[in-house]
Amino acid sequence: MSQATQPLSLSKMPAHVAIIMDGNGRWALKRGLPRLAGHKAGTENLRRIIKACVEFGVKYLTIYAFSTENWGRPKEEVLGLMRILEDVIDRELEELNQQGVQLRHIGQLERLPGFLQEKVISAIEKTKHNQQLIINIAFNYGGRDEIIHAIQHIIRAGIPAENVTSDLVSQYLYTAGNPDPDLIIRTSGELRISNFLIWQAAYSEWYVTPTYWPDFDKDEFKKALESYANRDRRYGKVNSTEYEAKDD
Ligand code: FPP
Repeated sequence: MSQATQPLSLSKMPAHVAIIMDGNGRWALKRGLPRLAGHKAGTENLRRIIKACVEFGVKYLTIYAFSTENWGRPKEEVLGLMRILEDVIDRELEELNQQGVQLRHIGQLERLPGFLQEKVISAIEKTKHNQQLIINIAFNYGGRDEIIHAIQHIIRAGIPAENVTSDLVSQYLYTAGNPDPDLIIRTSGELRISNFLIWQAAYSEWYVTPTYWPDFDKDEFKKALESYANRDRRYGKVNSTEYEAKDD
């Protein structure tokens, strides 16, 4: 059952928010804690932001939890992040399901340990009819890997070159069927895309804050949504008022 939502009264709301949850390591370092403590604090914060998404009426949330490059981190951190995914499913699935959250996965599931693949698949299956909020967990995800994967499938499907359009490529991405992200948030102040949704982000609005992910609370999230509401999205065109003014 989904809970009542209180959409924010903003002139414009993003349907799809994507987040690079950066700064967990530095958050921990600042407190003299191991990096994994930062990832755990980041996971707690994720619970708060998911609740806020449900409350505000965001429809899609994509979170960057583990990139194809993160395998290069120390073994302990890699295993710790796998364990966090396992814990999130074990401990949070029931509540997420009650909030009307549908879980999806984007990236290559095959490289994860077998038991974790099964857990992810069963969480996807259990929540597949929920419609309040769709969460894409990017885990072992890379934007370039996603595009290579799409090209391979297009070729294998025998699609003639002249039929390859932007819409067709989108249909072969892990995010097929989702609208492109309207707003991408990156915490911790880094000004990089880091191989995240590189196709889908073509016309996304960006919001970068110096706040580390574990401290990016509901109020900060509201600020990001307010910033988005004040943007003028032109998709490479000019807005209609400017155009009319020029024509007069
Ligand atoms: C980047 O911060 C963060 C990550 C690589 C992991 C993000 C994961 C979580 C917030 C946990 C939630 C996970 C799941 C599976 C739902 P960083 O470690 O690169 O920070 P730093 O740049 O300060 O070192």
